[in-house]
Amino acid sequence: MATEKINPRENIVLHPTQVAQVDRERVVAQKPFTIWFTGLSGSGKSTLAFSIEKLLIESGKPAYVLDGDNVRHGLCKDLGFSAEDRSENIRRIAEVARLMNEAGVTVMVACISPTRECREKARTIIGDERFLEVYLSTPLDVCERLDPKGLYRKARAGLIPDFTGVSAPYEVPEAPALVLDASERSIADCVEAIVAKARNCAQ
Ligand code: ADX
Repeated sequence: MATEKINPRENIVLHPTQVAQVDRERVVAQKPFTIWFTGLSGSGKSTLAFSIEKLLIESGKPAYVLDGDNVRHGLCKDLGFSAEDRSENIRRIAEVARLMNEAGVTVMVACISPTRECREKARTIIGDERFLEVYLSTPLDVCERLDPKGLYRKARAGLIPDFTGVSAPYEVPEAPALVLDASERSIADCVEAIVAKARNCAQ
């Protein structure tokens, strides 16, 4: 048996599809895209992502939420919260979003995605024309006061290391498509603003 290490990608050939993207899009009657929500834990990402998913499904459009907490129960359950693991978490989520977009599904990603670099990597994987970055700018003190999962309290007590906004950094996006402060606007208002922006993507 050969003992030398083989680069697995060396022997893997891409199979071309026989289906054009326009034909996939005709089947689902939509041009799929990804709404990428970024912001602190508790800033409103999941609430908005799931509200928009409901809206799209009710209007007959295939849609799905890739939520940071949820994917960490399956696809990413081997990952923690070091910078490297977060980067891998986001890479996997972005690859899945890309596949789902190609398959015809509009995707809402709700994950902290704390660095500009990881969000740019996600944009590159998904494709600039399909990527709508929405920054939830809800201030840290508001997220911390509401603290629905009790995680900020635990992080301040030193029970959760590398907690974003407390003991790990969050880099504010430089040029997001939309900035929303969920402490100043209602959910309905935020959803309306996102849907209006998303209309340009879906054309
Ligand atoms: S990301 O940084 O890799 O994008 P992701 O969105 O998947 O994070 O997961 C964040 C969620 O995990 C938070 O909403 C929170 O519920 C939980 N969590 C547990 N530990 C941490 C931590 N150290 N930092 C941030 N969130 C954490």
